[in-house]
Amino acid sequence: MARILVVGIAVVDAIAHPVDAFPAPGGLRFFDELTFTTGGCAINCGIALAKLGIPSDIVARVGQDPLGDFVISELARAGASTSGIVRDPQRPTSFSFVAVPRGGERSFLHTTGANAALRASEISPQQLASKQLVFVTGTMLMDALDGEPAAGLLKAARSAGALTVMDTVYVESAPIELWRRAVLPALAHLDYFVPSAPEARAISGIDDASESARSFQRQGARNVVIKLGDRGVLCLDEHGRETIVPAFQIPRVVDATGAGDCWAAGFLAGLHEGRSFVESARLGNAVAAISVQAAGATTGVPTMDQVQNMLDGQAGREDR
Ligand SMILES: Nc1ncnc2c1ncn2[C@@H]1O[C@H](COP(=O)(O)OP(=O)(O)OP(=O)(O)O)[C@@H](O)[C@H]1O
Ligand SMILES: [Mg+2]
Repeated sequence: MARILVVGIAVVDAIAHPVDAFPAPGGLRFFDELTFTTGGCAINCGIALAKLGIPSDIVARVGQDPLGDFVISELARAGASTSGIVRDPQRPTSFSFVAVPRGGERSFLHTTGANAALRASEISPQQLASKQLVFVTGTMLMDALDGEPAAGLLKAARSAGALTVMDTVYVESAPIELWRRAVLPALAHLDYFVPSAPEARAISGIDDASESARSFQRQGARNVVIKLGDRGVLCLDEHGRETIVPAFQIPRVVDATGAGDCWAAGFLAGLHEGRSFVESARLGNAVAAISVQAAGATTGVPTMDQVQNMLDGQAGREDR
C-alpha cells in the first residue's frame, strides 16, 4: 500500500502555440500546434512520483465527462493509482486553455470545474491510515476544501501518524483576505508549508522570502520552503535555521509548467526515503530542473537513478 497520499486539483490543459494576440470579438485567429495534456498539482505530482518509482494514492475530483476519462487514462498510463479519483456527476473536469506566445509569458483561461467541489469527507480514515506523508496541493482553487476543512484533514492526517505538506496555486487576482482564509487555518497542522515566492508574498504581504517564511512559522507551520524559481528554494527549519538550496544550472528552459509540482514530487520522494529536510529539497530541485527541460508538466520527469546521478554530479563539483 502506498505510504504517500496526494490530495488536490486535477486539470486538463490545452496548450496552443503560438498565440501572439487574441481575436477581436467575432473574429478568428490561427495557431500551429495544440498539445493536450493533464495538469493540476495533484495529477502532476502523482504522475511525477510514479515516474520516480514511488507509489502514491491520489485523491482528486474530475467530471463524468471525456476530459475526466482522459485524466484517469493518463494516470494509468504513467503507472499512477486511479482508485482515489472521484467522478462529479454535475461539474465538468477543470480545464485550462493555455496560450503560448512566441516570446514572453503564457496566458491561462481557466475554469475550476469539479475541483471546487472536492471535500475533506472524500478522504476516508482508511485512506489516511498508515500514511507516512499527506500532501494537500492546489490550495486557492478548491472552494470546498480550502481553509478550515483542509486544516481538519491535515490535523486528522497528523493524528494518524503522517507528516503533512501543503502547496498553493498563484491566483493573481485574489485579494489578501481570500489567501489568508484559504491558507492560515492550515498552518498549525503543517510539517512543511511549500509555497512559491509570489504565493508567499500574496499570503503574508511581505516581499522578503525569509521574513515571510518566518511569519508562516510564527503562525504555526513547523518548517517552511519558499520556491524561488531559477534561484532554487529557501528552507527554514523548525530551529529557525535557514538554508538556500540553489537550483541546478541547466542549459535551456523548454517549459517551466509544473516545475513546482515536480519539485514537490522530488521533495516527497526524499522525505519518503528518510533524507533530511535540506537533502529532500535538493532532490526536489533536481527533479524540477530535469522536468523544465522538456515540454509538458511531467514529460521530462526522470527516474530516481537519473536524479541520484545528478545529485552525485553536483556533490562531486562541490568537493573540488
Ligand atoms: N530555470 C530553472 N532552472 C533550474 N531549476 C528551475 C528553474 N525554474 C524552476 N526550477 C526549479 O523548480 C522549482 C520550482 O519552481 P518555481 O519556484 O517556479 O515553483 P512554482 O512557482 O510553484 O511553479 P509552478 O508554476 O509549477 O507552480 C525551483 O525551486 C527550482 O528548483
Ligand atoms: Mg506552484
